[in-house]
Amino acid sequence: MTHHRGGNLPCATTELVGRGGELAEAGRLLRGCRLVTVVGCGGVGKSRLALRAAELAGPGFADGAWLVDCSPVQDAALLGHAVAEALGLVDGTAREPAEVLVEHLAGRELLLVLDGCEQLADACAALTGRLLAAAPACGWWPPAGSR
Ligand SMILES: Nc1ncnc2c1ncn2[C@@H]1O[C@H](COP(=O)(O)OP(=O)(O)O)[C@@H](O)[C@H]1O
Ligand SMILES: [Mg+2]
Repeated sequence: MTHHRGGNLPCATTELVGRGGELAEAGRLLRGCRLVTVVGCGGVGKSRLALRAAELAGPGFADGAWLVDCSPVQDAALLGHAVAEALGLVDGTAREPAEVLVEHLAGRELLLVLDGCEQLADACAALTGRLLAAAPACGWWPPAGSR
């Protein structure tokens, strides 16, 4: 199996306007929780805020911050494929993607941003629950060793 290291966040092309309070709150939550959810109306700035928060937190994770754009995924059964693809995982076996993800994440320290996943809430809850249980170092910021 091959994968890319270090993260895949896109560079921002415009300045983030305001949101200092929300960014500070996101940072505070990320320091205390392995799973943080951003909710709000469409277009209100959830993705933008989450990306900036991940940019700021990403260097604290040995394996970086990774964005999965779930917005094109309509079939919940394809969520695991989308996450594996975003992580650059290439698995030559017939295993289910969640199993491949569990194996990949188990020994890693990374921050995963599942963006645009409101249509996949149940599938996201199931997958993140499984991944958080299998990957003890993922989502902790700063990593446990440097607390
Ligand atoms: N604080 C901000 N500063 C600059 N542009 C923003 C800000 N918040 C949102 N935008 C822009 O507004 C648009 C919608 O924001 P987005 O984060 O995609 O919303 P949501 O994810 O809530 O649907 C995007 O083009 C985004 O770059
Ligand atoms: Mg969005």
